[in-house]
Amino acid sequence: MITLDQLISLLAKARYVAVLTGSGISAESGIPTFRGADGLWKQYRAEDLATPEAFRRDPTLVWEWYRFRRDIIRKAEPNPGHDALAEMERLVPNFVLITQNVDGLHQRSGSKTVIELHGNIFIDRCVECGREVDRSGQPEPETALPRCECGGLFRPGVVWFGEALPAEALNRAWDAVDQCDIFFSIGTSALVYPAAGLPDMARQRGAKVVEINPEKTPISSRMDLSIRESAAHTLQEIVAKLKAVKAS
Ligand code: OAD
Repeated sequence: MITLDQLISLLAKARYVAVLTGSGISAESGIPTFRGADGLWKQYRAEDLATPEAFRRDPTLVWEWYRFRRDIIRKAEPNPGHDALAEMERLVPNFVLITQNVDGLHQRSGSKTVIELHGNIFIDRCVECGREVDRSGQPEPETALPRCECGGLFRPGVVWFGEALPAEALNRAWDAVDQCDIFFSIGTSALVYPAAGLPDMARQRGAKVVEINPEKTPISSRMDLSIRESAAHTLQEIVAKLKAVKAS
């Protein structure tokens, strides 16, 4: 176990910091999590909306649901938690942000090295030719079922249940886990693999592991420091202290 002050000293000396985020970091931007009290998987069935079978069965329904989520995300702003991580990146020599989120808020708040393990909700990907179109800065197509110029259906560029993670993203995440001195797990229930396995891998490689989550998770007891608070508040405090130590 380490204290918050010890964490700050370690951060001030760290060569390489890796961070894993989940939907909890975007909760304070008004984007619903998946498994909390108002979580998406409490109101909707993943089997109906987030699997390749669901898309084959009813692509219009699946698109409706992703457009509903795109709409929430377009109206949302990064919060002080996202901002603090963008700032942390500027304060340490090597920094990698691995996210399970598909909302792009880390990039919007200025984070540069972001690995999107579960894709990005604003990408349309053709199921036939694989062409991708980024809709983040564009209005949604008029049609309920968007199609590629090759004639194939577009699908949302996210990872669905039963699908493999993008290999390049996963390899880069493993590389960061290998190299980091400090690993943060922030705002994730640590239930969905392979992302949920990254904190333990980092610990086994000798990194100090820190969790920030108001709730206990299956990995909490194995952390060097488990901070049971909101990400925005805690990350702001950590970065302010880190800046003070670096300036002294
Ligand atoms: P979950 O909804 O499973 O977990 C969100 C976590 O955030 C919970 O542990 C909350 O306690 C925590 N949390 C809530 N508010 C927070 C706050 N203000 N600060 C910090 N933590 C907070 O979401 P994920 O772990 O992201 O995958 O879920 C992982 C994956 O499951 C998602 O990427 C998605 C989902 O099904 C796919 O769609 C493939």
